[in-house]
Amino acid sequence: ANEFAILGIESSCDDTAAAVVTSTGRILSNVIRNQHKVHAKYGGIVPILAAEQHTMNMPYVISEALEQANLAVPDLAAIAVTRGPGMPGSLGVCLNAAKTLAAVFKKPLIGVHHMEAHALVARINTDNNIQFPFLSFLLSGGHTMLLVAHSVNRYSCLGTTLDDSIGEVFDKVSRQIDIPSIKDQLDSYSFYSKSQYQNHSAGEALELLASFGDERKYSLPLPMNKSDTSSSLNYSFSGLKSAAFRLISSISESESESESDLAKLFKSKADVAASFQYTATKHLISKLVKSLFYTRSQLGIFPKSIVVSGGVASNKYINGKLREFAHSNKMEYFSPPIHLCTDNGVMIAWAGVERFKLGLTDPYSITFKQRWPL
Ligand code: KG4
Ligand code: ZN
Repeated sequence: ANEFAILGIESSCDDTAAAVVTSTGRILSNVIRNQHKVHAKYGGIVPILAAEQHTMNMPYVISEALEQANLAVPDLAAIAVTRGPGMPGSLGVCLNAAKTLAAVFKKPLIGVHHMEAHALVARINTDNNIQFPFLSFLLSGGHTMLLVAHSVNRYSCLGTTLDDSIGEVFDKVSRQIDIPSIKDQLDSYSFYSKSQYQNHSAGEALELLASFGDERKYSLPLPMNKSDTSSSLNYSFSGLKSAAFRLISSISESESESESDLAKLFKSKADVAASFQYTATKHLISKLVKSLFYTRSQLGIFPKSIVVSGGVASNKYINGKLREFAHSNKMEYFSPPIHLCTDNGVMIAWAGVERFKLGLTDPYSITFKQRWPL
């Protein structure tokens, strides 16, 4: 009887999303429109086009989310919206939609930090019962960030990437390997395993190829491991990316058309993929070890679990290594279902629920925050 519903609206990057979630974590609707096609030919997100697409899609996304939930705005307890960080033009779209709906219907407004939403959404499944404090590790195309979630509204960022995100380097190295050129071999080898893979990203193709390689074949440099950077809790992937690029061009030089050479080339590419994935994962873990030590010894905080999310969380190899790490440190390990890991409206609505329960609402005059430290 006390269950209430919150609408969550998100448009900080390239997805226009809205969802209705209840206070007990029931997802009543979850609508997303992506705009990959619009940006594809530019090789990156074009801010002005993103804002334009959000402007076009937002009214339909919101009305569909309410329709699917079988609710109207007056039935809602509050409206939650991404306030930042993100692209100003894009943030303006979700923020204005939410503020206007809230003001017209006299509903409380909740401005949500995008990264807080990524961290909190793991708690939506109350069976998991993920308790504070926990470590939240966000691994995606946009972020590589480790934070301690102390409580709702209180987080410490331990480390973040100084250059490329992990998803970005997986994509770039994958493209450099040119997996489509060995697609026939890959298909014949991976006939059975392929069905387990499903998001069709370049990063995922690299993981699949790596499963046929020897991860110790090539030794790539472990990032941030020299004396001046080894104590840092941050991440860096651009050096590893360049080293992988050099390795790829050195093996591709020996390319030729004969059958046996093609088989050899496939094997070498698989070895590069595996060695890259091995080193990238080792980097994640080595900084995680330092971060956990810092959290326990300097902050005096003992996280009970580690939550991994973001598109890269669907990588089974990385997942396995992180799970091992968590368990060997007596922590529980969680990775939310992948559709809640990537950008979505549910995470904004759920963060809204958590904040609303604590009375954390905002005036209708709030503005977006392009940069917003946690
Ligand atoms: O969270 P997400 O869907 O959206 C963005 O942040 O953009 O993450 C997408 C990223 C892409 O870079 C994609 O290549 C990467 O996640 N990714 C993977 C795998 N699946 C998706 N990277 C490595 N292994 C995977 N299995
Ligand atoms: Zn995100």
